[in-house]
Amino acid sequence: MKILITGSDGQLGNEIKELASSYSHYEFLYTDINELDITKAADVKQYFEMHKPDVIINCAAYTAVDKAETDEGTAFLINAAAAGILARAAAETGVFMVHISTDYVYDGRNFQPYVETDTVNPASVYGKSKQAGEEAVQQSGGKAVIIRTSWLYSAFGNNFIKTMMKYGRQRNSMNVVFDQSGTPTYAHDLAKAILDILPVAMKAGNIEIYHYSNEGVASWYDFAKAIHEFANITCQVNPIPTKDYPLPAERPFYSVLNKSKIKNQFSIEIPYWRNSVKACIDRLEKEEDF
Ligand SMILES: NC(=O)c1ccc[n+]([C@@H]2O[C@H](COP(=O)([O-])OP(=O)(O)OC[C@H]3O[C@@H](n4cnc5c(N)ncnc54)[C@H](OP(=O)(O)O)[C@@H]3O)[C@@H](O)[C@H]2O)c1
Repeated sequence: MKILITGSDGQLGNEIKELASSYSHYEFLYTDINELDITKAADVKQYFEMHKPDVIINCAAYTAVDKAETDEGTAFLINAAAAGILARAAAETGVFMVHISTDYVYDGRNFQPYVETDTVNPASVYGKSKQAGEEAVQQSGGKAVIIRTSWLYSAFGNNFIKTMMKYGRQRNSMNVVFDQSGTPTYAHDLAKAILDILPVAMKAGNIEIYHYSNEGVASWYDFAKAIHEFANITCQVNPIPTKDYPLPAERPFYSVLNKSKIKNQFSIEIPYWRNSVKACIDRLEKEEDF
């Protein structure tokens, strides 16, 4: 089975690359913007004709949440229009699509974990562009799964873990918001889940939405404290409210995802968020250049 990965130089794409050797029954085609710009419909069509993938996992996205507030056109082009281009090309050629979305499609006013059928109501441009991407995939008429995930980190690129480790080592104290709750998700775990569920997911004849994050609940403050604990960093972390750390994009105050659907459908086990944070930090510390 030939699997096309778009945006393969990002966090999720790189974690799939790392796992590829454990999935030798799959053949992977890795592309990022230089090999395949997903906003170019003609290039996408030509790529599909030339390489004939069976599956596409769309890891490409515009993920600069705050920058999106003033760069709406690019966010919608990549997260919405291009998702539609890929989904239509996939539908026309019988290719199964895995598309990744976000907890930021929710407004965060829930008091219990979101299920897939809960109403979406994104507050940020990024969230709106991802919602439009979901709709474009749903309208393609093909076969696909859309996986909403949250607070992604990995051993690659810039993310919250690396930022907290860097500043924690440089400073005596730092402020981190404690009134936004969600679940940090190790892109390695998400990548593994996607590759594991594929054979069964492909048998479905329609488009399904699933939630996937690590298990448990945390605030960004709890996340920062866990990072410092596992990295042996002795920096004072002060919990502060969101209003004291204003950012251009509004984030949901609560975006915990209920994962019952994906767990029941595919019988997968999901790691607890603290265990996965520790696993990522152990891995980072083994890398000489970090
Ligand atoms: N990061 C999070 O906290 C988070 C949370 C929830 C959901 N998600 C979703 O999870 C998915 C994976 O996120 P991630 O953190 O792995 O993203 P990422 O690290 O930002 O990777 C996205 C990749 O897509 C590339 N890309 C951008 N425009 C492209 C184009 N036109 N054609 C082809 N590739 C293009 C990016 O290149 P450049 O770097 O050069 O732009 C980058 O290599 C995304 O759908 C994201 O929305 C992420």
